[in-house]
Amino acid sequence: MNNAIAGFSKLSKEEKINWIANEYFSDATEAISLVKKYWNTDEKLQQLHDEFIENTITNFYIPLGVAPNFLINGKYKTIPMAIEESSVVAAAAKSAKFWSTRGGFKATVLNTEKIGQVHFIFKGELSKLEQFFVETKNKFFTATESITKNMQKRGGGILDIELRNKTNLIENYFQLHVTFETKDSMGANFINSCLEQFAKTLKEEAQSYDLFSDDEKQIEVVMSILSNYVPNCIVRAEVSCPIEALTEKHIENPLEFAEKFVQAVQIAEVEPYRAVTHNKGIMNGIDAVVLATGNDFRAVEAGIHAHASKSGQYSSLSHAKIENDIFSFWMEIPLSLGTVGGLTSLHPLVKLSLEMLEKPSARELMEVVAVAGLAQNFAALRSLTTTGIQEGHMKMHLNNIMNQFQATDEERILIKKYFKINTIAHSTVVDFIESIRQ
Ligand code: MEV
Repeated sequence: MNNAIAGFSKLSKEEKINWIANEYFSDATEAISLVKKYWNTDEKLQQLHDEFIENTITNFYIPLGVAPNFLINGKYKTIPMAIEESSVVAAAAKSAKFWSTRGGFKATVLNTEKIGQVHFIFKGELSKLEQFFVETKNKFFTATESITKNMQKRGGGILDIELRNKTNLIENYFQLHVTFETKDSMGANFINSCLEQFAKTLKEEAQSYDLFSDDEKQIEVVMSILSNYVPNCIVRAEVSCPIEALTEKHIENPLEFAEKFVQAVQIAEVEPYRAVTHNKGIMNGIDAVVLATGNDFRAVEAGIHAHASKSGQYSSLSHAKIENDIFSFWMEIPLSLGTVGGLTSLHPLVKLSLEMLEKPSARELMEVVAVAGLAQNFAALRSLTTTGIQEGHMKMHLNNIMNQFQATDEERILIKKYFKINTIAHSTVVDFIESIRQ
């Protein structure tokens, strides 16, 4: 039986590793050696990574790949992608190449508003609370001046503060619903600091508001926190071309292809089981760039899936149509990203990724990320509606098995030739490798 441990976070890194190794592994020495194998030999770099979180024992590698040839708003970009799934970068690169000769991707930021809320309980007369809010609203702005000063210099700040009555949902429940512009930062710290100050001001001002009874003066703040749902922080990505221009290797009949593609999107629009997988494919592209650029992919995921359900039924993020012999494919998604602050100046590979993208503004990064998502979706739907998804996946799978068996160059030629016409499965590949090795 394993034991609980007190004061684990206070142990040194070595002590933590030793405790885990002895507690959970039959071969503690082997476990320790594996953990240490992934340490960076550059001690300063290792320390930097150790300090990102608590209780770090080692590094967990995820490949950083790149997808070149992305023509976005007339400019070529190479997109960095941090992802473990084998076919994602290849699919992105393929889509990029395909659209680069068909006008490229267009991307536009529609708006950039962020949201935060102070959730509170007020037991009293609504009209008095409304009156209090009107009279106090300015004080929320003045009380946060020291926090907003720098953001204002960069053109951002608090846009508006609203009092929202939510008593139809929970008794006595109200909100300060606040909108922000945070320019190139994702703004989480800025927003949360403002909100915590609003909460303080709210309570203090209520205490000294003469029209409130003693009970009404006791406003209870439940919590103050930003929202990762950002329905007014939207970027649009799109591609379009004449149907005829869709012709290529796997697309002999472009009209048939376009029609089937549009049907596939329509299915994802109406069928939640398909929509989830369809959107998962989009998130393959989005998360990979979000992660490589040091942004919070959980926040992005949560916000995007909320957006996908905004009609009350989970639905496709992307849409497609054929009109006047033109095929169009597009997506509008909420994305709250930063290119300054947070990990962006701390993680050396994040810095590298941002430099590869030519140091984008947050708006430019929103465009790149949305394009990566749309490209991924295009690649998936193209495979699904033509050759099927397994062809590409199995090629990568074959590669992985060849690597696992450390196949030589000559063996690789034989294996690839054989599996061009035979079905790839782990067992068939292993059998074939064994047969050629005999
Ligand atoms: C796999 O990671 C993603 C796909 O399933 C997406 C899709 O089905 O559209 C291929």
